[in-house]
Amino acid sequence: MSDSPFRPTRPRRLRETPALRRLVSETRLDPADLVLPVFVREGAGGPLPISSMPGVVQHSLDSLKGAIAEAAEAGVGGVMLFGVPEVRDAIGSGATDPDGILNVATRVAVEAAGGALVVQTDLCLDEFTDHGHCGVLDALGRVDNDATLERYRDMALAQAAAGSELLGLSGMMDGQVAAVREALDDAGFLNTAILAYSAKYASAYYGPFRDAVESQLQGDRRTYQLDPGNRREGLREAIIDIEEGADVVMVKPAGSYLDVLADVSAASEVPVWAYQVSGEYSMIEAAAAHGWIDRKRAVIESVRSIKRAGADAVLTYWATELAKWIRAGEAA
Ligand code: PBG
Repeated sequence: MSDSPFRPTRPRRLRETPALRRLVSETRLDPADLVLPVFVREGAGGPLPISSMPGVVQHSLDSLKGAIAEAAEAGVGGVMLFGVPEVRDAIGSGATDPDGILNVATRVAVEAAGGALVVQTDLCLDEFTDHGHCGVLDALGRVDNDATLERYRDMALAQAAAGSELLGLSGMMDGQVAAVREALDDAGFLNTAILAYSAKYASAYYGPFRDAVESQLQGDRRTYQLDPGNRREGLREAIIDIEEGADVVMVKPAGSYLDVLADVSAASEVPVWAYQVSGEYSMIEAAAAHGWIDRKRAVIESVRSIKRAGADAVLTYWATELAKWIRAGEAA
């Protein structure tokens, strides 16, 4: 024994055994907090692989049912549907057509889910427009905010009628939450909830997604999505959306925006979710495929970090696989 009065503080005590580490863990993963994004394509034939997202496919209506059943079985909390139409036009007509792929897929998904998980839909025009923007364009080719809101209102009604329980407003138009809430309420869809992609950044990490939905985008989305350098503005957008009536707010992408997520989480009165986007997925998959990173550990660490920063739920392409690991006690 040293006669020094100094006794080091020993935080390592609580790291001594697996059981102790488990007991003092601050962040646990739960399948119920995971949402699986799902792509559904129009047309005949089976599912198609997405080359830039190994392991993720564009589902057919038939394979969609299996994916929903598997996710529900694993305890996943919900799915977020994206449509990949065969035909696109300037105003994104397929988005509001009750027989458009996303609305048809929603009906199929609601039936397949049977209430075991929450069926949600992406509410944005980019998958349906031939120019690839999230809204309609004015005579000068700029995205027309208020004309787009009219399209979002109609899209919301089509999705609610198809049975979507939570509409994911991802277009970043000003006033979109208020416009959609009003349209839903006026049509009697009082219980259809709104998930606002509030702090959605103009990110390079959406690259593989553009591939996944075969987006035709020319140019970029910087006049409506946030500048990656702006932290304060992310919080501001979330506060505006909560005031407009958002039931849930979201930060997207997740991994590079944990500071924004922590800010929104601290300030929000409604649940705060985060979207681990396509590029975040593909980076880990690519590094793992080269043997440069331990895939399972990296997946678990990436999602746990997003929850640690304050996300109540996480949209991730690994949702079903991760849920299975959690159930098996392999994702501490
Ligand atoms: C817009 C939308 C996008 C994503 C989700 N919703 C694309 C974009 O804004 O460019 C990206 C999701 C991902 O990259 O995983 N409909």
